[in-house]
Amino acid sequence: MSSLSFKLGLVLVFFQLGLSAQEPEVEKPAIIPQPAEIEWKDNFFTLQERTVVCFSSGAGASAAWLQRLLSNTYTQSYEMRGENCNGFNLNINPELEETLGKEGYNLEITASTVSLEAATEAGLFYAIQTLRQMFPAEIENEKISEEIKLPQVSITDTPRFEWRGSMLDIARSFFGTDYIKKHLDRMAFYKLNRLHLHLTDDQGWRIEIKQKPKLTELGSKGAVKGGRSGYLTQEEYKEIQEYAAARNIVIVPEIDMPGHIYSALMAYPELNCEDFSNIEPRMATPPELFHEYKVGWSKLCLDKPEIYDFVATVLGEMAEITTGDYLHIGGDEIEDERYKEFVVKADSIVQGLGKTTVGWEEVTQAAVDSSFISQRWNGKTKSVVKTPVIESICSSFYYDHANVPGQEMTNNWCKEDGVSLKDAYTFKVENPNTIGVEAPVWTEMVLSNEAADDRFWPRTIAMAEVGWTKEKKKDYKNFLERLGDQGLRLDLMDVNYFRSPEVDWNSDPKKGIFSEFMPKSKF
Ligand code: ACM
Repeated sequence: MSSLSFKLGLVLVFFQLGLSAQEPEVEKPAIIPQPAEIEWKDNFFTLQERTVVCFSSGAGASAAWLQRLLSNTYTQSYEMRGENCNGFNLNINPELEETLGKEGYNLEITASTVSLEAATEAGLFYAIQTLRQMFPAEIENEKISEEIKLPQVSITDTPRFEWRGSMLDIARSFFGTDYIKKHLDRMAFYKLNRLHLHLTDDQGWRIEIKQKPKLTELGSKGAVKGGRSGYLTQEEYKEIQEYAAARNIVIVPEIDMPGHIYSALMAYPELNCEDFSNIEPRMATPPELFHEYKVGWSKLCLDKPEIYDFVATVLGEMAEITTGDYLHIGGDEIEDERYKEFVVKADSIVQGLGKTTVGWEEVTQAAVDSSFISQRWNGKTKSVVKTPVIESICSSFYYDHANVPGQEMTNNWCKEDGVSLKDAYTFKVENPNTIGVEAPVWTEMVLSNEAADDRFWPRTIAMAEVGWTKEKKKDYKNFLERLGDQGLRLDLMDVNYFRSPEVDWNSDPKKGIFSEFMPKSKF
Protein backbone atom coordinates (compact mmCIF):
# COMPACT_ATOMS: atom_id res chain seq x y z
CA MET A 1 0.00 0.00 0.00
CA SER A 2 1.41 3.44 -0.92
CA SER A 3 1.75 5.98 1.86
CA LEU A 4 -0.85 8.19 0.11
CA SER A 5 -3.52 5.49 0.02
CA PHE A 6 -2.68 4.61 3.66
CA LYS A 7 -3.30 8.25 4.64
CA LEU A 8 -6.49 8.36 2.58
CA GLY A 9 -7.62 5.18 4.28
CA LEU A 10 -7.00 6.73 7.71
CA VAL A 11 -8.95 9.84 6.72
CA LEU A 12 -11.82 7.64 5.55
CA VAL A 13 -11.80 5.64 8.78
CA PHE A 14 -11.86 8.87 10.84
CA PHE A 15 -14.57 10.28 8.62
CA GLN A 16 -16.69 7.21 9.10
CA LEU A 17 -16.03 7.14 12.84
CA GLY A 18 -16.99 10.82 12.98
CA LEU A 19 -20.20 10.16 11.09
CA SER A 20 -21.19 7.25 13.22
CA ALA A 21 -20.53 9.23 16.39
CA GLN A 22 -23.01 11.88 15.23
CA GLU A 23 -25.53 9.58 13.63
CA PRO A 24 -25.58 6.17 15.20
CA GLU A 25 -27.01 3.51 12.96
CA VAL A 26 -30.77 3.42 13.44
CA GLU A 27 -31.67 0.00 14.74
CA LYS A 28 -34.70 -1.32 12.92
CA PRO A 29 -37.25 -2.76 15.27
CA ALA A 30 -38.65 -6.20 14.48
CA ILE A 31 -42.20 -5.61 13.32
CA ILE A 32 -44.59 -8.58 13.06
CA PRO A 33 -46.67 -8.91 10.96
CA GLN A 34 -44.51 -7.30 8.28
CA PRO A 35 -46.20 -4.06 7.14
CA ALA A 36 -47.16 -3.51 3.51
CA GLU A 37 -44.86 -0.50 3.01
CA ILE A 38 -42.17 0.64 5.36
CA GLU A 39 -39.46 3.24 4.85
CA TRP A 40 -36.94 3.71 7.63
CA LYS A 41 -35.22 7.09 7.97
CA ASP A 42 -31.79 7.87 9.41
CA ASN A 43 -32.76 9.68 12.57
CA PHE A 44 -34.85 9.59 15.70
CA PHE A 45 -37.82 10.97 17.53
CA THR A 46 -36.89 11.42 21.17
CA LEU A 47 -39.65 10.98 23.72
CA GLN A 48 -39.84 14.13 25.85
CA GLU A 49 -40.48 14.33 29.59
CA ARG A 50 -43.87 15.81 28.78
CA THR A 51 -45.84 15.03 25.71
CA VAL A 52 -49.23 15.69 24.19
CA VAL A 53 -51.52 12.96 22.82
CA CYS A 54 -53.63 14.89 20.40
CA PHE A 55 -56.70 13.18 18.93
CA SER A 56 -59.44 13.98 16.46
CA SER A 57 -63.12 13.31 16.96
CA GLY A 58 -63.85 9.57 17.25
CA ALA A 59 -60.31 8.66 18.26
CA GLY A 60 -60.81 8.84 22.04
CA ALA A 61 -60.46 5.10 22.67
CA SER A 62 -57.23 5.04 20.64
CA ALA A 63 -55.88 8.00 22.62
CA ALA A 64 -56.56 6.00 25.80
CA TRP A 65 -54.67 2.97 24.40
CA LEU A 66 -51.72 5.17 23.51
CA GLN A 67 -51.75 6.83 26.94
CA ARG A 68 -51.71 3.38 28.48
CA LEU A 69 -48.60 2.50 26.48
CA LEU A 70 -46.87 5.76 27.35
CA SER A 71 -47.68 5.30 31.03
CA ASN A 72 -44.95 2.64 31.07
CA THR A 73 -42.35 5.28 30.19
CA TYR A 74 -40.96 8.37 31.93
CA THR A 75 -43.09 10.79 29.94
CA GLN A 76 -46.02 12.63 31.41
CA SER A 77 -48.62 12.64 28.66
CA TYR A 78 -51.65 14.87 28.30
CA GLU A 79 -54.66 14.23 26.11
CA MET A 80 -55.92 17.03 23.93
CA ARG A 81 -58.52 17.23 21.19
CA GLY A 82 -57.03 18.68 18.04
CA GLU A 83 -55.53 17.88 14.67
CA ASN A 84 -51.89 18.90 14.57
CA CYS A 85 -49.89 19.01 17.75
CA ASN A 86 -46.27 18.22 18.43
CA GLY A 87 -45.93 14.87 20.15
CA PHE A 88 -48.48 12.22 19.23
CA ASN A 89 -51.28 12.81 16.72
CA LEU A 90 -54.18 10.39 16.33
CA ASN A 91 -56.41 11.15 13.44
CA ILE A 92 -59.52 9.42 12.13
CA ASN A 93 -60.43 10.30 8.60
CA PRO A 94 -63.26 8.21 7.06
CA GLU A 95 -62.12 9.19 3.56
CA LEU A 96 -59.02 7.06 4.08
CA GLU A 97 -61.19 3.94 3.86
CA GLU A 98 -60.83 4.09 0.09
CA THR A 99 -57.09 3.49 0.26
CA LEU A 100 -56.58 1.89 3.68
CA GLY A 101 -59.81 -0.10 4.08
CA LYS A 102 -61.35 -0.56 7.52
CA GLU A 103 -58.24 -1.83 9.27
CA GLY A 104 -55.30 -0.13 7.53
CA TYR A 105 -53.30 2.80 8.88
CA ASN A 106 -50.51 5.27 8.21
CA LEU A 107 -47.79 5.74 10.81
CA GLU A 108 -45.26 8.52 10.37
CA ILE A 109 -42.50 9.30 12.84
CA THR A 110 -40.54 12.52 12.29
CA ALA A 111 -38.13 14.41 14.55
CA SER A 112 -40.96 16.13 16.41
CA THR A 113 -44.13 14.12 15.82
CA VAL A 114 -45.58 10.63 15.78
CA SER A 115 -48.66 10.67 13.52
CA LEU A 116 -51.13 7.83 13.33
CA GLU A 117 -54.05 8.00 10.94
CA ALA A 118 -56.75 5.61 9.77
CA ALA A 119 -60.35 5.48 8.61
CA THR A 120 -61.49 3.76 11.81
CA GLU A 121 -60.53 3.12 15.44
CA ALA A 122 -59.54 -0.41 14.37
CA GLY A 123 -56.90 1.03 12.04
CA LEU A 124 -55.58 3.33 14.78
CA PHE A 125 -55.50 0.38 17.19
CA TYR A 126 -53.25 -1.48 14.76
CA ALA A 127 -51.06 1.59 14.23
CA ILE A 128 -50.55 1.62 18.02
CA GLN A 129 -49.62 -2.09 18.02
CA THR A 130 -46.98 -1.38 15.38
CA LEU A 131 -45.72 1.61 17.36
CA ARG A 132 -45.60 -0.54 20.50
CA GLN A 133 -43.13 -2.86 18.75
CA MET A 134 -40.77 0.11 18.26
CA PHE A 135 -40.48 0.77 21.98
CA PRO A 136 -37.99 -1.23 24.07
CA ALA A 137 -39.41 -4.66 25.02
CA GLU A 138 -39.35 -3.68 28.70
CA ILE A 139 -42.38 -1.47 28.06
CA GLU A 140 -44.43 -4.66 28.30
CA ASN A 141 -44.11 -4.96 32.05
CA GLU A 142 -42.13 -2.16 33.65
CA LYS A 143 -41.79 1.61 33.68
CA ILE A 144 -38.88 2.68 31.47
CA SER A 145 -36.77 5.52 32.88
CA GLU A 146 -33.97 5.58 30.26
CA GLU A 147 -34.31 7.92 27.30
CA ILE A 148 -36.44 6.45 24.52
CA LYS A 149 -35.58 7.13 20.89
CA LEU A 150 -37.94 5.89 18.21
CA PRO A 151 -36.57 5.51 14.69
CA GLN A 152 -38.06 7.88 12.13
CA VAL A 153 -40.17 5.93 9.71
CA SER A 154 -43.03 6.09 7.27
CA ILE A 155 -45.45 3.12 7.21
CA THR A 156 -48.55 2.48 5.17
CA ASP A 157 -50.16 -0.79 6.12
CA THR A 158 -53.27 -2.79 5.24
CA PRO A 159 -54.18 -6.41 5.96
CA ARG A 160 -54.24 -9.10 3.29
CA PHE A 161 -57.32 -10.87 4.74
CA GLU A 162 -60.37 -9.73 6.68
CA TRP A 163 -60.46 -12.92 8.83
CA ARG A 164 -57.39 -13.50 11.00
CA GLY A 165 -58.40 -15.96 13.64
CA SER A 166 -57.40 -18.18 16.50
CA MET A 167 -59.55 -20.99 17.88
CA LEU A 168 -59.56 -22.34 21.41
CA ASP A 169 -61.38 -25.56 22.29
CA ILE A 170 -62.73 -24.95 25.81
CA ALA A 171 -64.97 -28.05 25.60
CA ARG A 172 -62.45 -30.89 25.98
CA SER A 173 -60.61 -29.02 28.72
CA PHE A 174 -62.06 -25.83 30.12
CA PHE A 175 -60.28 -22.47 29.86
CA GLY A 176 -61.98 -19.62 31.72
CA THR A 177 -62.20 -15.85 31.52
CA ASP A 178 -58.66 -15.08 32.76
CA TYR A 179 -56.90 -17.22 30.19
CA ILE A 180 -59.20 -16.14 27.37
CA LYS A 181 -58.51 -12.47 28.15
CA LYS A 182 -54.76 -13.10 28.15
CA HIS A 183 -55.12 -14.85 24.83
CA LEU A 184 -57.07 -11.89 23.43
CA ASP A 185 -54.29 -9.50 24.52
CA ARG A 186 -51.69 -11.51 22.68
CA MET A 187 -53.86 -11.94 19.60
CA ALA A 188 -54.47 -8.20 19.43
CA PHE A 189 -50.73 -7.48 19.58
CA TYR A 190 -50.33 -9.49 16.35
CA LYS A 191 -53.38 -7.90 14.69
CA LEU A 192 -55.63 -10.96 14.87
CA ASN A 193 -59.33 -10.15 14.84
CA ARG A 194 -61.44 -13.31 15.36
CA LEU A 195 -61.48 -15.57 18.40
CA HIS A 196 -63.46 -18.72 17.67
CA LEU A 197 -64.51 -20.45 20.90
CA HIS A 198 -65.35 -24.14 20.50
CA LEU A 199 -67.92 -24.13 23.30
CA THR A 200 -69.44 -27.60 23.16
CA ASP A 201 -68.37 -31.16 22.47
CA ASP A 202 -68.86 -34.71 23.72
CA GLN A 203 -66.86 -34.10 26.89
CA GLY A 204 -68.40 -30.83 28.06
CA TRP A 205 -70.95 -28.06 27.46
CA ARG A 206 -69.34 -24.72 28.36
CA ILE A 207 -71.90 -21.96 27.87
CA GLU A 208 -74.93 -21.18 30.00
CA ILE A 209 -78.23 -21.51 28.11
CA LYS A 210 -80.91 -20.17 30.45
CA GLN A 211 -83.81 -22.09 28.89
CA LYS A 212 -81.83 -25.36 28.99
CA PRO A 213 -80.21 -25.22 32.42
CA LYS A 214 -79.19 -28.89 32.52
CA LEU A 215 -76.68 -28.27 29.74
CA THR A 216 -74.45 -26.64 32.32
CA GLU A 217 -75.86 -28.25 35.52
CA LEU A 218 -74.96 -31.69 34.12
CA GLY A 219 -73.25 -31.25 30.77
CA SER A 220 -70.45 -28.98 32.00
CA LYS A 221 -69.28 -31.45 34.65
CA GLY A 222 -67.22 -33.53 32.28
CA ALA A 223 -63.84 -32.98 30.66
CA VAL A 224 -61.25 -35.08 28.94
CA LYS A 225 -59.24 -37.08 31.49
CA GLY A 226 -56.84 -34.77 33.29
CA GLY A 227 -58.62 -31.69 31.90
CA ARG A 228 -60.66 -29.04 33.68
CA SER A 229 -64.45 -28.86 33.72
CA GLY A 230 -66.58 -25.72 34.10
CA TYR A 231 -68.50 -23.27 31.95
CA LEU A 232 -68.90 -19.60 31.09
CA THR A 233 -71.98 -17.85 32.42
CA GLN A 234 -73.67 -15.55 29.94
CA GLU A 235 -72.34 -12.63 31.96
CA GLU A 236 -68.79 -13.94 31.61
CA TYR A 237 -69.31 -14.52 27.90
CA LYS A 238 -70.45 -10.90 27.49
CA GLU A 239 -67.50 -9.65 29.53
CA ILE A 240 -65.09 -11.58 27.28
CA GLN A 241 -66.86 -10.27 24.21
CA GLU A 242 -66.57 -6.67 25.40
CA TYR A 243 -62.89 -7.15 26.23
CA ALA A 244 -62.38 -8.58 22.75
CA ALA A 245 -64.31 -5.79 21.01
CA ALA A 246 -62.12 -3.16 22.69
CA ARG A 247 -59.21 -4.91 20.95
CA ASN A 248 -60.93 -5.14 17.57
CA ILE A 249 -61.61 -8.86 18.02
CA VAL A 250 -64.93 -10.54 17.25
CA ILE A 251 -65.91 -13.62 19.25
CA VAL A 252 -67.19 -16.44 17.03
CA PRO A 253 -69.11 -18.90 19.23
CA GLU A 254 -69.37 -22.51 18.08
CA ILE A 255 -72.14 -24.89 19.13
CA ASP A 256 -71.00 -28.09 17.45
CA MET A 257 -73.97 -29.97 15.91
CA PRO A 258 -75.40 -32.41 14.95
CA GLY A 259 -72.38 -34.51 16.01
CA HIS A 260 -69.87 -33.94 18.83
CA ILE A 261 -72.93 -33.47 21.05
CA TYR A 262 -72.84 -36.11 23.79
CA SER A 263 -72.72 -33.56 26.65
CA ALA A 264 -76.18 -32.35 25.51
CA LEU A 265 -77.45 -35.90 24.92
CA MET A 266 -76.64 -36.85 28.51
CA ALA A 267 -78.23 -33.66 29.90
CA TYR A 268 -81.42 -33.96 27.80
CA PRO A 269 -81.94 -37.65 26.94
CA GLU A 270 -85.02 -36.77 24.85
CA LEU A 271 -82.59 -35.57 22.14
CA ASN A 272 -81.68 -39.24 21.59
CA CYS A 273 -83.46 -41.82 19.43
CA GLU A 274 -85.09 -44.92 20.95
CA ASP A 275 -82.49 -47.19 22.56
CA PHE A 276 -79.81 -44.52 21.94
CA SER A 277 -79.36 -45.76 18.39
CA ASN A 278 -77.89 -42.34 17.58
CA ILE A 279 -74.89 -43.13 19.80
CA GLU A 280 -72.78 -45.48 17.72
CA PRO A 281 -70.36 -46.88 18.73
CA ARG A 282 -71.71 -46.50 22.27
CA MET A 283 -68.79 -44.76 23.94
CA ALA A 284 -71.00 -43.67 26.87
CA THR A 285 -74.65 -43.95 27.85
CA PRO A 286 -76.63 -41.14 29.52
CA PRO A 287 -76.32 -40.11 32.36
CA GLU A 288 -72.63 -41.13 32.26
CA LEU A 289 -70.05 -38.47 31.40
CA PHE A 290 -67.50 -39.05 28.62
CA HIS A 291 -63.80 -38.45 29.32
CA GLU A 292 -62.10 -40.14 26.36
CA TYR A 293 -60.79 -38.89 22.99
CA LYS A 294 -62.78 -40.67 20.29
CA VAL A 295 -64.74 -38.52 17.83
CA GLY A 296 -67.63 -39.10 15.42
CA TRP A 297 -69.82 -41.38 17.56
CA SER A 298 -72.59 -39.15 18.92
CA LYS A 299 -75.31 -37.19 17.14
CA LEU A 300 -78.70 -35.64 17.71
CA CYS A 301 -81.56 -37.93 16.70
CA LEU A 302 -82.16 -36.32 13.32
CA ASP A 303 -85.40 -38.26 12.81
CA LYS A 304 -87.05 -36.33 15.64
CA PRO A 305 -88.51 -32.94 14.61
CA GLU A 306 -88.28 -31.79 18.28
CA ILE A 307 -84.51 -31.53 18.05
CA TYR A 308 -85.03 -28.38 15.96
CA ASP A 309 -86.74 -26.72 18.95
CA PHE A 310 -83.59 -27.43 20.93
CA VAL A 311 -81.37 -26.11 18.12
CA ALA A 312 -83.51 -22.96 17.74
CA THR A 313 -83.53 -22.31 21.52
CA VAL A 314 -79.77 -22.70 21.88
CA LEU A 315 -78.92 -20.68 18.77
CA GLY A 316 -81.54 -18.08 19.72
CA GLU A 317 -79.89 -17.44 23.10
CA MET A 318 -76.44 -17.42 21.51
CA ALA A 319 -77.60 -14.84 18.96
CA GLU A 320 -79.06 -12.72 21.75
CA ILE A 321 -75.80 -12.54 23.70
CA THR A 322 -73.49 -12.34 20.69
CA THR A 323 -72.66 -8.92 19.27
CA GLY A 324 -70.56 -10.27 16.39
CA ASP A 325 -72.05 -11.23 13.05
CA TYR A 326 -71.35 -14.97 13.23
CA LEU A 327 -72.69 -18.19 14.73
CA HIS A 328 -70.63 -21.34 14.09
CA ILE A 329 -72.70 -24.54 13.98
CA GLY A 330 -69.85 -27.06 13.74
CA GLY A 331 -71.15 -29.75 11.39
CA ASP A 332 -68.00 -31.88 11.36
CA GLU A 333 -67.34 -35.60 11.45
CA ILE A 334 -70.81 -37.01 11.23
CA GLU A 335 -72.64 -39.37 8.90
CA ASP A 336 -76.40 -39.44 8.73
CA GLU A 337 -78.93 -39.64 5.91
CA ARG A 338 -80.46 -36.44 7.22
CA TYR A 339 -77.17 -34.57 7.68
CA LYS A 340 -77.65 -32.24 4.70
CA GLU A 341 -81.24 -31.48 5.72
CA PHE A 342 -79.99 -30.60 9.20
CA VAL A 343 -77.31 -28.25 7.90
CA VAL A 344 -79.73 -26.38 5.63
CA LYS A 345 -82.27 -26.03 8.45
CA ALA A 346 -79.67 -24.91 10.99
CA ASP A 347 -78.38 -22.37 8.46
CA SER A 348 -81.86 -20.95 7.96
CA ILE A 349 -82.34 -20.71 11.76
CA VAL A 350 -79.09 -18.75 12.04
CA GLN A 351 -80.02 -16.49 9.14
CA GLY A 352 -83.43 -15.90 10.73
CA LEU A 353 -81.58 -14.68 13.81
CA GLY A 354 -79.77 -12.10 11.68
CA LYS A 355 -76.37 -13.80 11.80
CA THR A 356 -74.03 -15.35 9.25
CA THR A 357 -73.52 -19.11 9.59
CA VAL A 358 -70.07 -20.64 9.83
CA GLY A 359 -69.39 -24.39 9.77
CA TRP A 360 -66.61 -26.92 9.22
CA GLU A 361 -66.01 -27.85 5.57
CA GLU A 362 -68.37 -30.88 5.57
CA VAL A 363 -71.33 -28.47 5.55
CA THR A 364 -70.63 -27.72 1.87
CA GLN A 365 -71.88 -31.22 0.96
CA ALA A 366 -75.28 -29.58 1.45
CA ALA A 367 -76.68 -26.88 -0.82
CA VAL A 368 -76.23 -24.17 1.78
CA ASP A 369 -76.73 -20.48 1.11
CA SER A 370 -73.81 -18.74 -0.60
CA SER A 371 -73.39 -16.53 2.49
CA PHE A 372 -72.44 -19.59 4.58
CA ILE A 373 -68.76 -19.45 5.56
CA SER A 374 -67.04 -22.83 5.46
CA GLN A 375 -63.92 -23.62 7.42
CA ARG A 376 -61.53 -25.98 5.66
CA TRP A 377 -59.69 -28.36 7.97
CA ASN A 378 -58.85 -31.69 6.30
CA GLY A 379 -59.54 -30.77 2.67
CA LYS A 380 -61.48 -33.98 2.01
CA THR A 381 -64.98 -32.63 1.36
CA LYS A 382 -66.61 -32.75 -2.07
CA SER A 383 -68.42 -29.41 -2.03
CA VAL A 384 -71.58 -28.79 -4.02
CA VAL A 385 -71.52 -25.03 -3.36
CA LYS A 386 -69.07 -22.16 -3.58
CA THR A 387 -68.87 -20.32 -0.29
CA PRO A 388 -66.42 -17.98 1.39
CA VAL A 389 -63.69 -20.09 2.99
CA ILE A 390 -61.64 -19.78 6.17
CA GLU A 391 -58.42 -21.70 5.73
CA SER A 392 -57.56 -23.90 8.75
CA ILE A 393 -56.00 -26.81 6.90
CA CYS A 394 -54.64 -29.10 9.60
CA SER A 395 -51.17 -29.60 8.05
CA SER A 396 -50.40 -25.89 8.51
CA PHE A 397 -52.80 -24.64 11.17
CA TYR A 398 -53.64 -27.35 13.74
CA TYR A 399 -51.46 -26.31 16.64
CA ASP A 400 -52.50 -29.12 18.95
CA HIS A 401 -50.02 -31.02 16.74
CA ALA A 402 -46.37 -31.21 17.80
CA ASN A 403 -44.11 -28.16 17.50
CA VAL A 404 -41.25 -30.55 16.74
CA PRO A 405 -41.36 -34.28 16.02
CA GLY A 406 -42.03 -36.35 19.11
CA GLN A 407 -43.24 -33.56 21.39
CA GLU A 408 -45.23 -35.15 24.21
CA MET A 409 -48.98 -34.68 24.63
CA THR A 410 -49.61 -33.65 21.04
CA ASN A 411 -51.67 -34.99 18.16
CA ASN A 412 -50.15 -36.41 14.98
CA TRP A 413 -53.13 -37.75 13.00
CA CYS A 414 -52.89 -35.00 10.37
CA LYS A 415 -49.11 -34.80 10.16
CA GLU A 416 -46.88 -37.44 11.67
CA ASP A 417 -43.97 -35.05 12.36
CA GLY A 418 -46.15 -32.29 13.75
CA VAL A 419 -46.86 -28.83 12.35
CA SER A 420 -43.67 -26.80 12.29
CA LEU A 421 -43.25 -23.03 12.32
CA LYS A 422 -42.26 -23.34 8.65
CA ASP A 423 -45.42 -25.34 7.82
CA ALA A 424 -47.42 -22.50 9.33
CA TYR A 425 -45.52 -19.66 7.68
CA THR A 426 -45.15 -21.06 4.19
CA PHE A 427 -48.82 -21.93 3.69
CA LYS A 428 -49.97 -20.66 0.29
CA VAL A 429 -53.55 -19.54 -0.19
CA GLU A 430 -54.85 -21.02 -3.45
CA ASN A 431 -58.64 -20.83 -3.24
CA PRO A 432 -59.83 -17.41 -4.53
CA ASN A 433 -62.83 -17.61 -2.15
CA THR A 434 -60.56 -17.51 0.87
CA ILE A 435 -61.47 -14.74 3.30
CA GLY A 436 -58.75 -15.55 5.79
CA VAL A 437 -56.94 -17.97 8.04
CA GLU A 438 -57.54 -19.38 11.49
CA ALA A 439 -55.47 -21.71 13.66
CA PRO A 440 -57.23 -24.01 16.15
CA VAL A 441 -55.87 -25.56 19.33
CA TRP A 442 -57.94 -28.63 20.26
CA THR A 443 -57.47 -29.47 23.89
CA GLU A 444 -57.77 -33.24 24.29
CA MET A 445 -54.12 -33.15 25.31
CA VAL A 446 -53.77 -29.52 26.34
CA LEU A 447 -54.58 -29.54 30.02
CA SER A 448 -53.08 -26.32 31.41
CA ASN A 449 -52.64 -22.66 30.50
CA GLU A 450 -48.90 -23.20 30.09
CA ALA A 451 -49.46 -26.04 27.64
CA ALA A 452 -51.96 -23.94 25.68
CA ASP A 453 -49.38 -21.12 25.41
CA ASP A 454 -46.80 -23.61 24.20
CA ARG A 455 -49.10 -24.83 21.42
CA PHE A 456 -50.33 -21.40 20.30
CA TRP A 457 -47.04 -19.51 20.36
CA PRO A 458 -45.03 -18.83 18.27
CA ARG A 459 -46.90 -20.68 15.49
CA THR A 460 -49.87 -18.31 15.82
CA ILE A 461 -47.45 -15.45 15.11
CA ALA A 462 -46.46 -17.15 11.84
CA MET A 463 -50.14 -17.55 10.97
CA ALA A 464 -50.75 -13.89 11.84
CA GLU A 465 -48.21 -12.90 9.19
CA VAL A 466 -49.91 -15.23 6.66
CA GLY A 467 -53.19 -13.45 7.45
CA TRP A 468 -51.88 -9.89 7.40
CA THR A 469 -48.91 -9.64 5.03
CA LYS A 470 -49.16 -9.85 1.26
CA GLU A 471 -47.52 -13.01 -0.12
CA LYS A 472 -44.82 -11.09 -2.02
CA LYS A 473 -43.67 -9.37 1.19
CA LYS A 474 -43.27 -12.61 3.11
CA ASP A 475 -39.83 -14.11 3.66
CA TYR A 476 -39.37 -17.02 6.05
CA LYS A 477 -35.70 -16.33 6.89
CA ASN A 478 -36.41 -12.71 7.61
CA PHE A 479 -39.47 -13.71 9.67
CA LEU A 480 -37.32 -15.99 11.84
CA GLU A 481 -34.96 -13.08 12.54
CA ARG A 482 -37.79 -10.76 13.50
CA LEU A 483 -39.37 -13.47 15.62
CA GLY A 484 -36.09 -14.11 17.46
CA ASP A 485 -35.85 -10.38 18.20
CA GLN A 486 -39.27 -10.55 19.86
CA GLY A 487 -38.27 -13.29 22.31
CA LEU A 488 -37.67 -10.99 25.26
CA ARG A 489 -40.92 -9.16 24.59
CA LEU A 490 -42.82 -12.46 24.66
CA ASP A 491 -41.07 -13.33 27.94
CA LEU A 492 -42.10 -10.01 29.41
CA MET A 493 -45.66 -10.56 28.19
CA ASP A 494 -45.59 -13.81 30.23
CA VAL A 495 -46.11 -16.01 27.18
CA ASN A 496 -44.88 -19.56 27.72
CA TYR A 497 -43.95 -19.88 24.05
CA PHE A 498 -42.26 -22.91 22.59
CA ARG A 499 -38.60 -22.06 21.94
CA SER A 500 -38.63 -23.28 18.33
CA PRO A 501 -35.10 -24.54 17.64
CA GLU A 502 -34.94 -22.87 14.22
CA VAL A 503 -35.15 -19.44 15.89
CA ASP A 504 -32.19 -17.61 17.44
CA TRP A 505 -34.20 -16.33 20.41
CA ASN A 506 -33.10 -13.04 21.84
CA SER A 507 -34.32 -13.91 25.29
CA ASP A 508 -33.04 -14.93 28.64
CA PRO A 509 -34.15 -18.55 29.06
CA LYS A 510 -34.53 -17.90 32.79
CA LYS A 511 -36.87 -15.00 32.04
CA GLY A 512 -39.50 -17.26 30.55
CA ILE A 513 -41.57 -17.28 33.70
CA PHE A 514 -42.92 -20.72 33.03
CA SER A 515 -39.61 -22.16 31.84
CA GLU A 516 -39.83 -24.92 34.45
CA PHE A 517 -42.92 -26.15 32.62
CA MET A 518 -41.18 -26.35 29.26
CA PRO A 519 -42.48 -29.41 27.48
CA LYS A 520 -40.07 -32.27 27.16
CA SER A 521 -39.25 -32.86 23.56
CA LYS A 522 -37.26 -35.80 22.32
CA PHE A 523 -35.31 -33.42 20.09
C1 ACM B 1 -62.28 -30.96 13.19
O1 ACM B 1 -61.06 -31.00 13.40
N1 ACM B 1 -63.03 -32.03 13.43
C2 ACM B 1 -62.93 -29.77 12.67
